[in-house]
Amino acid sequence: MSNAPDIPTDAVEFDDMQGLIRFGHGALIEAEFILCTVKDRTTAGTWLRNAPVTSAKTLDAPPDTALQVAFTATGLTALGLTDDATDGFAYPYLSGMAGEESRSRRLGDTGANAPDKWGWNDQATHVLIMLYARKGGLSGWKDTVLNATFDTAFARVHSFPTRPNDGTEPFGFRDGISEPKIDWKNAHPPSKHGREEFSNQISPGEVVLGHRNEYNARSASPSLSPSVPGSEVLADAPDTDGLRDLGRNGSYLVFRQLNQDVPGFWRYLDTATQGDPNRRNALAAKMVGRQMDGTPLVHNTRDVAGSPHSNDFTYEDDVDGLSCPLGAHIRRANPRTGDHPHHIEGRFAWLLSTLGFRRRRDKLPGRHDLVASTRFHRLVRRGRVYGSRISPEDALKDGAAMGERGLLFVCLCADIVRQFEFVQNAWIASPKFDGLTGEADPLLGSRAPISGVPSDGFSIQKADGVPDRHPHLPRFVTVKGGGYFFLPGLRALKFIASRGSKEV
Ligand code: HEM
Repeated sequence: MSNAPDIPTDAVEFDDMQGLIRFGHGALIEAEFILCTVKDRTTAGTWLRNAPVTSAKTLDAPPDTALQVAFTATGLTALGLTDDATDGFAYPYLSGMAGEESRSRRLGDTGANAPDKWGWNDQATHVLIMLYARKGGLSGWKDTVLNATFDTAFARVHSFPTRPNDGTEPFGFRDGISEPKIDWKNAHPPSKHGREEFSNQISPGEVVLGHRNEYNARSASPSLSPSVPGSEVLADAPDTDGLRDLGRNGSYLVFRQLNQDVPGFWRYLDTATQGDPNRRNALAAKMVGRQMDGTPLVHNTRDVAGSPHSNDFTYEDDVDGLSCPLGAHIRRANPRTGDHPHHIEGRFAWLLSTLGFRRRRDKLPGRHDLVASTRFHRLVRRGRVYGSRISPEDALKDGAAMGERGLLFVCLCADIVRQFEFVQNAWIASPKFDGLTGEADPLLGSRAPISGVPSDGFSIQKADGVPDRHPHLPRFVTVKGGGYFFLPGLRALKFIASRGSKEV
C-alpha cells in the first residue's frame, strides 16, 4: 500500500462517455463493425456531428440499438486534425498496430500472422463504425445510421457482420465471463486497496483517459491549446494551465481480427486423445482453463453459491498448476495475482529458500518477473464472433473446412503498452511465462520459435512433478488484421466533427 495522498478525482461523466466503455451491449445480439475511409471531409464532419452515438448514461430501459464510433490516428488526420491536436496521443496509437517491426515481433505478429498478410490495418482505414441491435433490428438500424450523407462522406472498405451473440466463441467455449469491475464511484482509492490479494476491481483510469488509475495518477490524456479552432467544446484539462482535454472520457480501442481453425482445433484434440470424447473435452478445457460451459478448473475458493460460470477465484490454492495448467489461456491472460504474486516475497521468501523449504515452482527462474501484479494489466473485452457456427462434432467430420470464422477481438484500455501489449507479449505470446519454457498460449500461439526458443508445446502439470507434454501444437488462430483506435468522449467527438465540418 502506498502512503501517497490520493489524487483528486472528478466524477465520472457517463453522459460524455461512449456506452461501450460501460456496457458490452450483450442484449443487442446483432452487431456489425464497418471500417471506412474519409471521402469527403466536410460531409464527414456533418455526419459525425449528427450521428446518434450511444452514451454510457443509464436509461429507464436499455436501448434497442447502439452506435459507437472510433478513429485511427490516420483517420483523425484525414478529418482535419493537425499535429497540434494529435501530438498528445500515445505513441503506439500514432504509429499503429503494425507500424513498427519490433511491435509486430512483440505482439507475435510474425510468419503467418505478419501484417503483410493482413486484409486491413489502421494505416489504411480511418473510422470504425460499430452498430448493435436487438434481434431483427440491425438491418433497419444500419439503414438509419448509414444514410446518404454517410455514403457521401465515407467509403466502406471492410465490413464485419457478426454471428448473433450467444455468449460462446467459435471453438465452442462460453466467453465474456470474466471482466474487471470498474470502481465508477471512485469509492476505493488505490492507496487504500488491500493489494496483497487479487482484486477484480480497477480504478476508472485504467480504461478511461483522464481519470485516476491504479498508480494513483491520472491516466494520460491528449490535450491541446485553446487556440486550436473548435476546441472550446472540450473540457479544460486538469492540472494544466489552460489546455483543453481531447482524451477525456475516451479510451483506446484495440481491434484484432482473429481467424479460428475450428476443425483444426478439434481434430488435433481428437488425435491427441485417441478419439475419446471425454478426454478430448478435458484436454480442451485444460487449454482454456475453463470447461466449455464456463466452469473454472480451479476449486472455487470464494464463491459459496458455486455458480458454474463463477469468476470469483484465484490460483492461490493451485500454485503448481495441478488443477488449471500454468499455461492455460485464462491463466496467462489474467494470472489473478496481487502485488506480491505468491505471498512469500521478501525476507520470508529468502528465509524459506535459504532453508530449502521454498516450493519447487517458486524457484523457477523468471516466475516472479513475468507474473507481475495483474491490476496494472487488465483489459475490458468487447469482442464479437464472426462466421457460421460449427459444433465440435461437425468440425470432426470429414471435409469440415477451416472457413472464415473467428473472433473480432476488441478490448478497451487507457494504456496500450502497459495493458494490451503487455498481456499479448509477456503473458500470451511469451515462451517463458510463469517459469514455463517452450510454450506460448495454447489457443493463440503462432507456434513460431521466439528468439530461437520453441513456443509450440503445451504442458499439463502433475502431482508427480512430470508434466504431460503435448509437443508441436498446430496453429489454431491466425491474425487477419488489426489496428489501434481512439474511442472519443462525446465532447471530443464534437470537436473532431467540427474539424471536418464547414460550420467550425
Ligand atoms: C481467437 C482468440 C481467442 C479465443 C478463442 C479466446 C477465448 C477465451 C475464453 C473461452 C475465455 C474464457 C471466458 C472468460 O473468462 O470470460 C477467455 C478469457 C479471456 N481472454 Fe481470451 N480468447 C481469445 C483471444 C484473446 C486475446 C487476443 C486476449 C488478450 C490479448 C484475450 C484475453 C482474455 C482475457 C483477459 C480473458 C479473461 C481471463 C480471466 O480474467 O480469467 N483473449 N478467452
